[in-house]
Amino acid sequence: MSQVTNTVRFVLDGKIVEAQGVRRTTTVLDYLREQLQRTGTKEGCAEGDCGACVVMVGELNASGQGVNYKAVNSCIQLLPSLDGKSIKTVESLKKADGALHPVQKAMVECHGSQCGFCTPGIVMSLVNLVQVNPNPKRQEVSDALSGNLCRCTGYSPILEAASKACGNKAALKIEDAADVPLLKEILRASTPTLSLEGDIIVQPVVRTRKGNEFVSPATLAEVADYLVKHPTATLLAGSTEVGLQVNKQFSRPDHIVYLGNVAELKQVKETAQAWHIGAVVSLTEVETLVAKVYPDFAEVLRRFGSPPIRSTATLAGNIANGSPIGDSMPCLMALGSTLTLRRGDTTRTVSLDKFYTGQKQTVLQAGEFIEAVVLPKPQSGQVFRAHKVSKRFEQDISATCAAITYTLKAGKLSGVKLAYNGLAPSPCRAPKLEAVLEGKAPSEVKASDLDAAIAASFVARDGLRATWAYRSLVARNLVIDFIEEQTQQTTEVA
Ligand SMILES: Cc1cc2nc3c(=O)[nH]c(=O)nc-3n(C[C@H](O)[C@H](O)[C@H](O)COP(=O)(O)OP(=O)(O)OC[C@H]3O[C@@H](n4cnc5c(N)ncnc54)[C@H](O)[C@@H]3O)c2cc1C
Ligand code: FES
Ligand code: FES
Repeated sequence: MSQVTNTVRFVLDGKIVEAQGVRRTTTVLDYLREQLQRTGTKEGCAEGDCGACVVMVGELNASGQGVNYKAVNSCIQLLPSLDGKSIKTVESLKKADGALHPVQKAMVECHGSQCGFCTPGIVMSLVNLVQVNPNPKRQEVSDALSGNLCRCTGYSPILEAASKACGNKAALKIEDAADVPLLKEILRASTPTLSLEGDIIVQPVVRTRKGNEFVSPATLAEVADYLVKHPTATLLAGSTEVGLQVNKQFSRPDHIVYLGNVAELKQVKETAQAWHIGAVVSLTEVETLVAKVYPDFAEVLRRFGSPPIRSTATLAGNIANGSPIGDSMPCLMALGSTLTLRRGDTTRTVSLDKFYTGQKQTVLQAGEFIEAVVLPKPQSGQVFRAHKVSKRFEQDISATCAAITYTLKAGKLSGVKLAYNGLAPSPCRAPKLEAVLEGKAPSEVKASDLDAAIAASFVARDGLRATWAYRSLVARNLVIDFIEEQTQQTTEVA
């Protein structure tokens, strides 16, 4: 294990690439296309929407004997975050004898490509899927491709190609045996560097003469120390917001702190009452975590962006970004989630419904960050319902998303927590609507009372994605749906 500063080191097809002189905001896509001439990976939207740029990023698995991959949108990932990892592009798939990967072969045979612009991204999404699931169902293939837009072929031949490719199981695994020892060689240090006085020195991956830098600490202590010293530094988790700011708003933060290598932040710690979800646990992992206990939450996450977005995006990034239409927050608020905030050695717990103080304004203090999102486990008899309303099923932004929890006590709604996005400057609870529901039997709840509570709670505002008339109607109807449907299914709690 060794570390070289001002050089981003990653493994590409059995070789270590040492990228020198890169900017801290150079994207993976630009480096692949412009420096490595890997032009198979395309740029369409440069904002994570079209999937033309999908590549696979690998990290050593827990045993150190193999590589775990995720499909990512290379257009919004920053190159320095690749330090210590490996990457596979569409060019990596060619076998030593020149043969195509079964997915590529099947795409040719099934006429899955016309202009071909989307094809490398589609191939990489499918190849990524079959690494862990060589027998995908049609729905799973469809989900895996939900972040890949094709304007000319139509998806039937592509789905057919996926099915045909899986007929050749022996050849589905990509060749990466040569990458494993190299990944060990470039593995980033897992302990901080200390000065003679015992102070933490966070080694930059990339540093300019002016002192601007991209750092990639390995421990929570390093992150906390760095942020106290550089309180205006930009934290980078999944890069699905920051990458957009870099590409579309030409944001060039002086100091970037990448959290993806911090072991403590990658973990989910379970107690009897809750899951403590570390700040860089991906939404894909959260979706798996909640699938059985909170299926509606998992459904909201399944419709969050696309697989390459969810493979890196985090709850903490969604919460800290604080968009009024952020999708995870209504679910987390209705479930009574709290945040563990850290500044230096000090932590405090803040309820998520007290986190926002205005549009994109939060209680976070200078140098403070989200260490974990604490998601309570379900209580006996608790009902949790959530639904996202958007124009398209996946890869779309909410008109509104609503979530509710309650229990039925002697047929009456009790302990109601209801939260929305899209209705106010930030996602929020709706105490006036909760009061309308609390203590009533579902059949006693009147739509007109809910309408009045909505009118009294929010400022009517038409938005780009929906009018207020539509949003407020949806907000009321979702509540009625949540309480009516569940009444029949819920076991009463005495
Ligand atoms: C194509 C596309 C589709 C999308 N679809 C959806 C969608 O359906 N629903 C939705 O809600 N959002 C969506 N988003 C927005 C985005 O994916 C989410 O907000 C995501 O959760 C951000 O997480 P991240 O880890 O990528 O954040 P990053 O981009 O890494 O960071 C986002 C912000 O949070 C800060 N931050 C990150 N971690 C911490 C921390 N631990 N403590 C304090 N601050 C922190 C960063 O400094 C930055 O300001 C989409 C984005 C794209 C590009
Ligand atoms: S170029 Fe469109 S998702 Fe990256
Ligand atoms: S083949 Fe042309 S966009 Fe898909």
